[in-house]
Amino acid sequence: MRAVRFHEHGGPDVLRVDEIDKPEISAHEILVEVAGAGVNPVDTYIREGATQPFTLPMIPGIDVGGTVAAVGDGVSGFDIGDPVYGTGIGKNHYGGYAEYVTVPDDRLVQLPEGVDPMVAGAAGVVSGTAWRALIDHGNLQAADTCLIHGGSGGVGHAAVQIAAASGANVITTAAPTYHDALTDLGADVVLDYGRSDLADAVRDAAGGGVDVILDHRLHEYLQFDADVANVGCRVLGIGENETGVGFERSSATRRKDLQLTMMTMFNTPDLRVPLRKLAYLMSEGDLEISIAETYGLEDAAKAQQHVIEESFLGKVVIVP
Ligand SMILES: NC(=O)c1ccc[n+]([C@@H]2O[C@H](COP(=O)([O-])OP(=O)(O)OC[C@H]3O[C@@H](n4cnc5c(N)ncnc54)[C@H](OP(=O)(O)O)[C@@H]3O)[C@@H](O)[C@H]2O)c1
Repeated sequence: MRAVRFHEHGGPDVLRVDEIDKPEISAHEILVEVAGAGVNPVDTYIREGATQPFTLPMIPGIDVGGTVAAVGDGVSGFDIGDPVYGTGIGKNHYGGYAEYVTVPDDRLVQLPEGVDPMVAGAAGVVSGTAWRALIDHGNLQAADTCLIHGGSGGVGHAAVQIAAASGANVITTAAPTYHDALTDLGADVVLDYGRSDLADAVRDAAGGGVDVILDHRLHEYLQFDADVANVGCRVLGIGENETGVGFERSSATRRKDLQLTMMTMFNTPDLRVPLRKLAYLMSEGDLEISIAETYGLEDAAKAQQHVIEESFLGKVVIVP
């Protein structure tokens, strides 16, 4: 089969397509014929060497969607031909940028009828992270006011939809070109993240303050989050562009009884739990993963550059 691999860490040019044997499944694995493998920023961090994969040469790709091609002896509940999607590979296990991938049965679920496996292959990391942040850690409730920074991003556009499906009042930020699309995805208010009065605009839109905040740029927004927070606000920190972040006015922040959770999707105790719930939302039309661009295996480097360097709504996907 054809698979994208990197034999050493480095820039996008270390990615190449190799012809290798189709992988063998072990007892608790499922062989998936890949229809789509979402491209995530973390794929580039692993490629660069910030996070060590379990082996080199490595096949990248945390996400996968496709069709069951073989089932391990110890696996139940999957049959050949079933449409499936999963996440959590590509780090301590070979990833999804390939024609076939074996997936441990604790991170793969069935797809309901009507959900495209290629599209679902782009859903895992972004919607799993948004679910884990807003629902599991943030305890988002109907009628809470929720702020999602960067609603046009992969995580952002999934988070907007999950928050809207939860019955929250959803405020998000994005470049103006994406405002109409984010309204269509369920945002109640969309604000340009470039405006100088953003904190006032968020407080106005919230009618005071915000109950839950999803922040992927803590280096820029951590103090901002505290400034727009209601007392008891839950801030979910999923990313930052600097190695250390902190509050500029910590004593004022303390008056908010702020709860800050620094989290990673990889700590999810059982990935099948959010994956099944997200599959349900996809089947009901409450979660639509927007596909900005697809790339073949031979263009994996371009796909990763697209994710890091360009502006787009939703997801970039490798389609073998
Ligand atoms: N902790 C975890 O488990 C976890 C999981 C997934 C992702 N992450 C991290 O979360 C971050 C986002 O991931 P992603 O997959 O959603 O990436 P993405 O698709 O590239 O989205 C990033 C978004 O940030 C927006 N943005 C840029 N500047 C901004 C600003 N000043 N204010 C608000 N938004 C701004 C971008 O908008 P423009 O297009 O307008 O530039 C883009 O929509 C990454 O750092 C990733 O590593 C963490």
